[in-house]
Amino acid sequence: MPTPAETAATTTHDADWWRQAAVYQIYPRSFSDSNGDGLGDLKGITSRVPYLKELGIDAVWLSPFYPSALADGGYDVDDYRNVDPRLGTLEDFDEMVAALHEAGIKVIVDIVPNHTSDRHVWFQEALASPKGSAARGRYIFRDGLGENGELPPNAWTSIFGGGAWERITEPGPEQAPGQWYFHLFAKEQPDLDWDNPEVHEDFLTTLRFWSDRGADGFRVDVAHGLKKDLNAEVASLDLLHRADLFREGEHPLWDRDEVHSIYAEWRKVFNEYNPPRTAVAEAWVHADRRAMYASPEGLGQAFNFDLLEADFDAEQFRRIIAKNLAEAAATGASSTWVFSNHDVVRHATRYGLPKGSGRGGKGADGKDWLLEGGDPAQVDAERGLRRARAATLLMLALPGSAYLYQGEELGLQEVGEIPDADRQDPTFFRNKGVEVGRDGCRVPLPWEAAPAEGSSFGFGANGAHLPQPAWFAGYAASVQEADAGSTLAFYRRALALRHELQGSESLGWQDASDDDVLHFVRPGGWHVVANFGTAPLELPAGEILLASADVEGGKLPGEATAWVRVAR
Ligand code: GLC
Repeated sequence: MPTPAETAATTTHDADWWRQAAVYQIYPRSFSDSNGDGLGDLKGITSRVPYLKELGIDAVWLSPFYPSALADGGYDVDDYRNVDPRLGTLEDFDEMVAALHEAGIKVIVDIVPNHTSDRHVWFQEALASPKGSAARGRYIFRDGLGENGELPPNAWTSIFGGGAWERITEPGPEQAPGQWYFHLFAKEQPDLDWDNPEVHEDFLTTLRFWSDRGADGFRVDVAHGLKKDLNAEVASLDLLHRADLFREGEHPLWDRDEVHSIYAEWRKVFNEYNPPRTAVAEAWVHADRRAMYASPEGLGQAFNFDLLEADFDAEQFRRIIAKNLAEAAATGASSTWVFSNHDVVRHATRYGLPKGSGRGGKGADGKDWLLEGGDPAQVDAERGLRRARAATLLMLALPGSAYLYQGEELGLQEVGEIPDADRQDPTFFRNKGVEVGRDGCRVPLPWEAAPAEGSSFGFGANGAHLPQPAWFAGYAASVQEADAGSTLAFYRRALALRHELQGSESLGWQDASDDDVLHFVRPGGWHVVANFGTAPLELPAGEILLASADVEGGKLPGEATAWVRVAR
């Protein structure tokens, strides 16, 4: 029997598969629950491989499935080379990889190098070891300020709100308050010290571990945050988390030039494999700095969140697409596109809000849905979905990789109505409920429409870890399977057709009749026309391959995209 690594090698003939891949993000705890404990698991994913195959994606990216206390949805990792027992075992991982590979689907796993969880053996060892010990040297420990070290080493804040330093109790019978450790995110996520060679070595071991088990690639969490200058003076705390407001490469926390030496080491490990393992950086950096993460000597690809942060607006889309394609061409990287993930409000909802821009969108009351929460009554769900389908069809015709988030193929809306008592996101707790956080896009998927009382729309046999609203029934996969006009059928058709485009990376802009229209051609006479306005638009004569809304009398309605094959 071939080892998982050999299976990966034999099913991956093309070392460049990732350049044009459609990658589907699975948030494992909310995808499919095989054992009725309310949490999705690896066997649940394996059971849905036929669905994923039918969808027509090229790869899945799994958010963390490692042992974790879930202080940050699994991005607080206790053990990088294991599976959370609630989600399965390493054998379940192997079975899942084999089933996905058998279906022709690559597997990307999430690597979280900026911080471990506070339950990781290294951190436990650091707490039990004295100040100045090698065990503390893997993290960022400092003495506090003030007469008795009672003040944090500086006033910096964490991303999730509150201070970025936590004080520990020193080991020993006195239980004396002692040093402080640094955490960019929740206090349960102590930052590693990437100046420590042992940290480097350990991550190389982890990359080999999953590569040997058949992982085809890695998504690198907070790739722009690993190197820090904690002695830097910061004029204002408001600047602390804005990578774009400092001189390039010199921000104390984000996007420092030295971070790339780490990825050069990783690249050597990726290239030990045939085909080489791939990686994509999660780096919220200024567009001009993205190329360094995406270089062939580095991670090879980086997320581009520009479209995700834009309005539904032709001019913004045109500018972003042109800029990113030009950058990719100049550096040899491939572009990436994404509208939704586990950290932002779903795009079908953002586009149904009066202001769809930013990660949260804004309601008529000016409230950001991610930060301040929003009243679901403000969302025009129908319009949001119409625009989301139009934007997605445009994205799926672009050269580069398209990243999709579980549930968007169902046209799923953000869940705005999660009771406070059920919330899980640390942003909610660390901000004392002011920021609602990211739970609304992480609610378990509806697979079946007609649930018995207390069931979870086919997600599992026994409830879901985040409450699903009654309106989920209308979005269930089973309902959409039976409906040729559904969003699921639309995604399947688009992804199947898209394979024809994957051989080339060229795109030619056409003059559009109207400022609200984008029009480009891909190889094979494949015209892509996106109408961001509301007036119907005459389409070029040809075969309509697919449209995001019904074309009547050769006219594309407002807020819609069509793919038209024009004979030459
Ligand atoms: C990334 C993840 C996010 C997580 C954070 C800390 O931004 O996408 O979900 O909270 O890193 O690990």
